[in-house]
Amino acid sequence: MPNYNLFLLPGDGIGPEIMAEAERIIDWLSGRGDVRFECSHGLVGGAAYDAHGVAISEDDMARALAADAVIFGAVGGPKWDDVPYDARPEAGLLRLRKDLKLFANLRPAICYPALAEASSLRRELVEGLDIMIVRELTGGVYFGEPKEIVDLGNGQKRGIDTQVYDTYEIERIARVAFDLARVRRGKVISSEKRNVMKSGVLWHEVVSDVHQAEYSDVTLEHMLADNCGMQLVRNPKQFDVIVTDNLFGDMLSDVAAMLTGSLGMLPSASLGETDAGGKRKALYEPVHGSAPDIAGQGKANPIAMIGSLTMALRYSFNMSAEADLLDTAIANVLGRGLRTADIMQDGKTLVSTHEMGDAILAELDLLTE
Ligand code: IPM
Ligand code: MG
Repeated sequence: MPNYNLFLLPGDGIGPEIMAEAERIIDWLSGRGDVRFECSHGLVGGAAYDAHGVAISEDDMARALAADAVIFGAVGGPKWDDVPYDARPEAGLLRLRKDLKLFANLRPAICYPALAEASSLRRELVEGLDIMIVRELTGGVYFGEPKEIVDLGNGQKRGIDTQVYDTYEIERIARVAFDLARVRRGKVISSEKRNVMKSGVLWHEVVSDVHQAEYSDVTLEHMLADNCGMQLVRNPKQFDVIVTDNLFGDMLSDVAAMLTGSLGMLPSASLGETDAGGKRKALYEPVHGSAPDIAGQGKANPIAMIGSLTMALRYSFNMSAEADLLDTAIANVLGRGLRTADIMQDGKTLVSTHEMGDAILAELDLLTE
């Protein structure tokens, strides 16, 4: 029986509450007897800062590097607003992405039929929505150097960030997008700002070259990033796969997420290169943040966290049958009218974080009895 080791980093805010529900699902999966997941826990973000004075300890970094997959909750909160920049909660997440070389961030935006009314757009615009945003995650302005504030000595300061992409970084993320499009609806939209940015000119050129050389069976279109944001709210169903850089991907994925009714619904997978043995480093996390305002109240929606586990089953453990099962369980529970506060609608049943976990587990039992 395969034995996998999961490294859980619940983080801050609602992170621990939603992770607790994901862990119950992990136990349920282990309990079926086909595979064994061994979980260990670490600290990241503000929780790590409080314990060790850093956003993630060297020990926990080593465990993340050794794990078969990292399952990540959320980081940050006002409590850590004044900690040194390098130790801010987000630095823990960025270090994990960088050191594990997780260059490909997959952010699906799927509108569950039961939630089409919860979207800020009309039902007909979002019903059946299924977009995959492929965000480059280890380059661009997030990591480019120089990155600093310099004192100009004349009473002025200068803030500098550097947007930088090399050919190989664009090629490998483009391939991830094209490969996904092949098993989806065969269309990639590549998004940059080549009208003002040199990195955008190169992005456009390299994506086009990869397309022509290796993926002419897939349709490729280019869309300026501002237009892409506009098109996402105008007519989201025109999109299949969107491939874009780190910063545009951050923004466009929040837009796409909200189209589906709630940020609390969307999972993500961050993947590294596949090695010779067919394995790759991976981290799975909800797209939403730590929501400190509702932390500890049992109000958080655990679905994005549990959905991230579904992605782990798919992309790290080759367990697509179990992933489908879990997706079905989530859709059914929503279909029965159960709602956490973020997606609550008239006539539906308001449940807590833990009750949502209970309902998904009960549905899993039902589906497999
Ligand atoms: C995300 C988040 C992060 C990012 C933050 C927490 C650093 O917004 O994963 O989308 O900007 O990448
Ligand atoms: Mg973001």
